[in-house]
Amino acid sequence: MKKSISTFLKHPTKDNSNRSANPAVIRASTILFNTMQELYQHEKKIKKHQKISHYSYGRYGSSTTIELENILKELEQAFHVFLTGTGFGGVALAIMSLCRPGDEILVSDNVYGPTKEISEKLLKEFNVTANFYNPDSFEDLKNKVSKKTKMILVENPGSNTFEFQDLSKIVNLAKKKNIFTFLDNTWGTPLYLKPLKLGFDMSFSSATKYFSGHSDAMGGSLAVNKKVFKQIMFFYKLSGYRMSADEAYLIIRGLRTLDTRLKQHYENTKQVINFLKRQKKIKEILYPYKSSSKNYKLWKKYYSGATGLLSIVIKSKKKSSVIKFVNSLELFGIGYSWGGFESLAILQELRSRKKDEYLQGRYFFRFNQDEHIVRLHIGLEDPKDLINDLKKSLRYIK
Ligand SMILES: Cc1ncc(COP(=O)(O)O)c(C=O)c1O
Repeated sequence: MKKSISTFLKHPTKDNSNRSANPAVIRASTILFNTMQELYQHEKKIKKHQKISHYSYGRYGSSTTIELENILKELEQAFHVFLTGTGFGGVALAIMSLCRPGDEILVSDNVYGPTKEISEKLLKEFNVTANFYNPDSFEDLKNKVSKKTKMILVENPGSNTFEFQDLSKIVNLAKKKNIFTFLDNTWGTPLYLKPLKLGFDMSFSSATKYFSGHSDAMGGSLAVNKKVFKQIMFFYKLSGYRMSADEAYLIIRGLRTLDTRLKQHYENTKQVINFLKRQKKIKEILYPYKSSSKNYKLWKKYYSGATGLLSIVIKSKKKSSVIKFVNSLELFGIGYSWGGFESLAILQELRSRKKDEYLQGRYFFRFNQDEHIVRLHIGLEDPKDLINDLKKSLRYIK
């Protein structure tokens, strides 16, 4: 029977051996076989990428992680999904698998800070050059492609400043030039955008965020097409990347309600934005909500929904008053990450604001010294309470 993805997420395979609605958590290093022949047969199947119910050794995963791989394969419409212990592991896996000495990697300048750091600092040690392009300019990207460009790494939208890019243009350019493409799709999730269907080679999500949804698990999901599968599998096996069965179980549990949670995050976010846009102290809201804006049009073109992460730009000569605003919020926790059930707030440190000085991966140079970015994750609380909390705290901004 054909099922919608919402139905599918509620009904991944049951554990028939235990008669439970959920898969068992299989913590395993050694996997036992009855005979050597059975072990050989099993390894052959793995090599041929045939359907298997377990790997041959715990380092590659267990039946619990295979269950998660299968759910994500369906969600991403992928050839294969590599699971890693953290989201960042998935980013590193993609880069380290595909880039070799002499290559160049082109990275959108609004990516998550550590993604910028690995590209800029670590790859240098391996003689791989990282170049950064302006996420608001496809021309800039085009001009920076060279014969050495091996991979284009996009984060859409940038998870601090929320620029949206024209994704098909990037894919078409990369295909013409035989360049691998990677999309960090953590914000939109494969529920709202399927990068592999669009033609990207790799679709990445930090499973720590909306997949798990409860701020109690970490993981990464790198969904790939056939073209890059072999090269990534080679590195995956030799690098020792893996996700634990416990973490996989929690992420499966989170995924069952992904669709329901995301709808509510979006609904709450819309209500909060409705309030924020009327506040004089807020100069700009970085989120695709204004139908006349370029970012809104690009979001509409590619996404079937939006989620709960946004930033607000506050103009103030007194940074300490912006800090006071964040500190005085009662319902927004202060801390890294996002995508859980709860609301969060954090003041982003604008370490570099000089034009053309690409640092920290945050595309911050377009903001002035007296503009402060506070990133908000709108959780699943009652939005009226969130609005009251914001209203009460905004008065501290001077
Ligand atoms: C957009 C984005 N990509 C990747 C990551 C890395 O994921 P993790 O924290 O699971 O390592 C993060 C984490 O904040 C993120 O926001």
